[in-house]
Amino acid sequence: MCDKVAFRCAEPAFGCPAAYGLALGRPGGKAAADAAQDVHQNLSFEQAPPISVPYRFFLTAPWFGVAAGLLLAFMGEDMLASRWTPGALAGTHLLVAGFMLQAMCGALLQFVPVATGGNIWQPRRVAAWVHPLLIIAVSLLVAAFLTQHPLLFIAASLGFTASLVFYAVVVGVALVRTPAQGATIVALRIALIGLLSTLGLGVTLAYGLAYPTDLPLLALTDVHAAWGLGGWGLMLLAGVAYFVVPMFQLTPAYPGWLARGVPWLLLALLLVWSLQLFGFPDGWRQPVLLGGLGTAGLFAGTTLYLQSRRRRKVRDTSLLFFCTAMLSLIALLFSAMLFIALPQIGNDPRAAVWLGLLAVVGVFVTAINGMLYKIVPFLNWLHLQRLCGLATLPPTMNQMIPERIMRRQFYLHLAALAFLLAAVWLPSLARPAGVVFALACAGLGVNLAGALRAYLSFKNRIRAAA
Ligand code: HEM
Repeated sequence: MCDKVAFRCAEPAFGCPAAYGLALGRPGGKAAADAAQDVHQNLSFEQAPPISVPYRFFLTAPWFGVAAGLLLAFMGEDMLASRWTPGALAGTHLLVAGFMLQAMCGALLQFVPVATGGNIWQPRRVAAWVHPLLIIAVSLLVAAFLTQHPLLFIAASLGFTASLVFYAVVVGVALVRTPAQGATIVALRIALIGLLSTLGLGVTLAYGLAYPTDLPLLALTDVHAAWGLGGWGLMLLAGVAYFVVPMFQLTPAYPGWLARGVPWLLLALLLVWSLQLFGFPDGWRQPVLLGGLGTAGLFAGTTLYLQSRRRRKVRDTSLLFFCTAMLSLIALLFSAMLFIALPQIGNDPRAAVWLGLLAVVGVFVTAINGMLYKIVPFLNWLHLQRLCGLATLPPTMNQMIPERIMRRQFYLHLAALAFLLAAVWLPSLARPAGVVFALACAGLGVNLAGALRAYLSFKNRIRAAA
């Protein structure tokens, strides 16, 4: 059966989402059959890591968002006055190296073996090393930004290096060795290069802040930020989206030229952007920036177009999150164009904060939130279904995290995003924005914990019945 529907499963009818109505969350739905016909992806569940591997990352990520929200609620408007305030740098890294990095590292440990057939060396051991080390490193870096203590910068750098180099080697070997080919693999390989470049530049910056140096810190920060958000974050988002958007949302596939072109174009633009470290002709900056954001906008516009052509017309919460992320990416492009056209606004220090919030919260936190609402119920379902075999059916994906609860958290997240963006220009909103954002992230954390509880309780029931 699984062969017929073009999914490669561990055993016939085992772990085969199409066969069990993955799309509808109930067995044998029509959407499942549609997915079966439309999606020609290979999912290789025999290599899936234990569920604890991705979950430890997923369950931790939202609490870094809570910490960022509370930091804003505590520090208030000063934090958003410019991108260089200690609070802004600390908050940025709670989100990019806390929330984003946790979720993305966990997702790759699951995605690489299952979607690309890549063989990750001892995933449980990798997770047991990388996960706690990343938590410590982020906490040290945040403390370093807030106190400006040199030793904290050094300790954070060591923690990040020890965790991310190991992680990148293990995942990189799996991605190089996999026989799979295609745009997703290319994007994931470039994303790993992006992660290592971000790390190298970040560590250099941290040393530059800890000790007196002649390094061009401003250019280094811009190059580090571009590799982190574009070379790692967006590259990974695009690579994963090529695979999961058609699969989970039943859309047509991304056009081949676009799927192949976006990662290479982004990489080329990042390399040109990096030339500013060696002295960049002044006139290059804006065209390269707009080129990068234009490429991102093309990816976002195509995703929205494909979503409008999806075969299953229901608008579930995960889809709403993803559409919001894509709209934020387009808003980022138009905001940058506006700031360039109107330098009297663009030169205001708050303009960069606006762009940063749109990128980090509007695009990445939003997309990750939505993806987690698909991935976690699916993984619950997959692992339970393997445990119960064909005798019993596990709860539907809808029962893992009820739609109405996810929808409530989506509205809270939207409110948080609106408050945060408004707070850039209306500083009195900064503290309420921090509180609402912390609540939205806590909502995600609680919902994911609820999904874990559902998984454990059903697993115990299966064991008791056996
Ligand atoms: C892994 C993902 C990371 C991403 C996406 C990322 C992103 C960013 C961004 C966007 C900025 C600019 C902030 C602003 O303009 O307000 C920044 C600055 C900075 N990052 Fe990261 N970062 C990451 C990891 C790291 C790591 C691992 C370190 C060091 C151990 C680091 C150290 C720094 C430092 C020191 C600055 C501030 C430079 C300055 O004030 O001159 N970052 N990062």
